[in-house]
Amino acid sequence: MDVHLNINLLYILLGLSAVAYLVIHKFSNSSGNTRLPPGSLGWPIVGETLEFQRLGQCGKSDEFPVQRMNKYNREIFKTHLFGEKTITLCGATGNKFLFTGEKTYVLTWWPNSLKKLFGDSFFTTPYEEAVRTVACDMFASMDDPNWQKMILDEFNILLKGVFQFPIYFPGTRHYKAVKAAAVIRRELMKLIQSRRGLMVDLDRRVERNLISHLMGTKNEDGELLSDKEIADNVILLMNAGHDTSSSTMMMLMKYLAESPDCYNRVLKEQREIASRKSPGELLNKDDISKMKYSWGVIQEVLRMSPPVQGTFRKAKVDFTYSGFSIPKGWAVWWTTSTTHKSEEYFPNAETFDPLRFARDNITPYSFVPFGGGPRMCPGREFAKVEILVFLHNLVNMFKWELVFPDDVISVDPMPTSSKGLPVYLYSHPYL
Ligand code: HEM
Repeated sequence: MDVHLNINLLYILLGLSAVAYLVIHKFSNSSGNTRLPPGSLGWPIVGETLEFQRLGQCGKSDEFPVQRMNKYNREIFKTHLFGEKTITLCGATGNKFLFTGEKTYVLTWWPNSLKKLFGDSFFTTPYEEAVRTVACDMFASMDDPNWQKMILDEFNILLKGVFQFPIYFPGTRHYKAVKAAAVIRRELMKLIQSRRGLMVDLDRRVERNLISHLMGTKNEDGELLSDKEIADNVILLMNAGHDTSSSTMMMLMKYLAESPDCYNRVLKEQREIASRKSPGELLNKDDISKMKYSWGVIQEVLRMSPPVQGTFRKAKVDFTYSGFSIPKGWAVWWTTSTTHKSEEYFPNAETFDPLRFARDNITPYSFVPFGGGPRMCPGREFAKVEILVFLHNLVNMFKWELVFPDDVISVDPMPTSSKGLPVYLYSHPYL
């Protein structure tokens, strides 16, 4: 229902701005745009956002950039997303340019709709190196299951508003997401205040977790973070760290259910590792390094169904790329779709083939599920260990079948099963 309301509102906006469109269109044609990359800025205000969302919801998010690469230019095209004039750089060369051009040509940037959700977190500001180390730390010890459930429910609402047009009107996804972010922020601030009460001083923390770490972190002016800044950083990390990994785990279960040979190979590798452990002994770094085939499977899942489709930068200066001008202030977008599903970089790109990472020479900057350059995901090693440990326990205990093999996987904003990917679990007596 919220989607309908969203769409109705957008059509009303379209109608109201028809006149404005003519003016904007005229303006954009007359402002010396001959050197701008080819492409379409779409409708007034909404640009091409509706088409982007429509393709994502029917599981075809890859098609948005690929159609435009085929139509306009394989290296670069312009579009208009989430209220911003946006230039997309394509292929491994485009990714490399953006990832290595941080601070020279571009700065990491998030659409305003996201800033409203994540507030004053460090990661939504242009640059802050020190706090990246925090990303792999642990979240607060949130022990109460009711509290956890409440926060997770709100968090799911927030997630659905991440890549939405920022219409702040009751009923829209953006509106609900901003409200959910406010509830989470308020709850986290209560938690932070209670933790402050427990702390003797900043060097003697009663416990070590993300919140306690942030409580001792200073901002660029050397001041300790406020409770709201801490809460905003926790919200962003919950989004960056939780849903990315859980979406990967879900898709991992889907691909393994569809590929019995891969499942059996993973099981063989994980049983060998388990057989060398005494009962109750935890996995260690050495065990993780032996999970080579399993990691190839996870990489292949990240190639075919990446949780993050791409991120934005903002042009810091006017510059040219591939013969076209990129004006200062425009959003610049990179997306996994321009390389992950391309035959140029991954032969038989539509085939699930975990051995390709061990066998083929992967072109640098073509496999980019974690981004690249100085803003590359700081949680990638944590995510690798987390997902491998999950896989180890899962395959050693269960085999599974999909209840709905034809379930559509939408990208909204991460790969999501429309039915929640229910499975039939069968335990097997291997351990
Ligand atoms: C499969 C799991 C994950 C994937 C695919 C993933 C992917 C990404 C991508 C694509 C970016 C943007 C990089 C760029 O713009 O160049 C990013 C940023 C980030 N990720 Fe992850 N991530 C994952 C897990 C995690 C985890 C577990 C954490 C933390 C515990 C985390 C924390 C962050 C943070 C804080 C940023 C912002 C970094 C910055 O702006 O400097 N991520 N991630």
